[in-house]
Amino acid sequence: MTVLVTGAAGFIGANFVYHLLDARPAERVVGLDKLTYAGNLDNLSAISEACRERFTFQKADITDAEAIAGLFAKHDFAAVVNFAAETHVDRSIHGPQVFLETNILGTHVLLEACKKAWFVDGKWLAGHRFLQVSTDEVYGSLGPAGLFSESTPLDPHSPYSASKASADLVVQAYHDTYGMPTAITRCSNNYGPYQFPEKLIPLMIRNALAHEKLPVYGDGKHVRDWLHVSDHCRAIDLVLERAAPGSVYNIGGMNEHENIAIVKLIIKKLNALTHDAGINERLIQHVEDRLGHDRRYAIDASKIGRELGWRPQIEFAEGIESTVAWYLENRDWTEKVVSGEYMEFYAKNYTL
Ligand code: NAD
Ligand code: TYD
Repeated sequence: MTVLVTGAAGFIGANFVYHLLDARPAERVVGLDKLTYAGNLDNLSAISEACRERFTFQKADITDAEAIAGLFAKHDFAAVVNFAAETHVDRSIHGPQVFLETNILGTHVLLEACKKAWFVDGKWLAGHRFLQVSTDEVYGSLGPAGLFSESTPLDPHSPYSASKASADLVVQAYHDTYGMPTAITRCSNNYGPYQFPEKLIPLMIRNALAHEKLPVYGDGKHVRDWLHVSDHCRAIDLVLERAAPGSVYNIGGMNEHENIAIVKLIIKKLNALTHDAGINERLIQHVEDRLGHDRRYAIDASKIGRELGWRPQIEFAEGIESTVAWYLENRDWTEKVVSGEYMEFYAKNYTL
């Protein structure tokens, strides 16, 4: 079977490619990515020699129906896992249009390509699946108590979360209308290797190492539920293999922290590893709050536990330590991203 992974050069997509090549040795993987500012082929450079022959990279834009049709003509995909998206809330506030184009229209292009390939003689081919990787942000914001469940009404606030919620509705419509075998996963905030250093954890690690200010939005008491990316990848793999068509699964770590606590923890971990006195809480700077900043996200992930036997395996203390260590050992990865060097090189040279 061949699996199409879109957004494969991004943070979670790349981690999922490694997971899939390792966990499913009989399968081939095509990794597609437009290589926007967030796509980085360095993220896929650790694919082992043994796995390399089962992996192909294709530079393409999911909104380009012709390119996607061409790819479907070339490969017999049994599954599509759609990670490709514009993902940064702050960028969506300053420029929403590309979020609507990629996240909604791009998802629709992929759904149409799957329908064309998989709906044959009035029937869906057996064993095929479209999996939409979504986010807990589609549910909106919580007060101090309560959890998002799969039946919580969608109530997105940012242009990013509105585009993801819209895509979820279109995916669900393809199941409800045409009977397409879809699944949607809605996960909480991920952390781990290869995360673009515009997101909270890698940004704070990078700035602290450079003794630059650590910008905490507003009072820093906004709460996120954090999950290690490898736990997310295992969950997606289970859903891909076992979920009923049309199903939705929440994925989360039961691991809530205020942003300010995360920043202080990163400082502590970096101190322990580097003994650098310049990394201290005086670097923290409370800055103007994000517009429409959701106060709290928290996930009820009991359905995926009950039905598919998934639970997180990586304790936060252990996961944050190995993540901080990864960014320390891979400072050149971050610096190439921050300087823009990764884009200049791969814009010309994108084959693996
Ligand atoms: P990311 O920004 O690191 O990666 C996104 C990738 O998509 C990039 O490689 C980018 O080049 C690619 N891309 C963007 N537009 C494209 C297009 N038009 N065509 C093809 N490729 C395109 O994001 P991420 O954190 O890896 O998130 C991946 C998915 O997981 C997203 O759909 C996101 O909504 C979802 N998600 C992320 C989190 C999180 O905490 N990071 C949590 C839940 C869900
Ligand atoms: P982020 O990593 O952008 O993820 P999301 O907005 O999708 O949850 O941000 C996580 C939290 O950290 C969010 O509440 C915003 C906050 N934040 C800061 O306080 N400072 C920063 O520089 C960034 C990037 C985020």
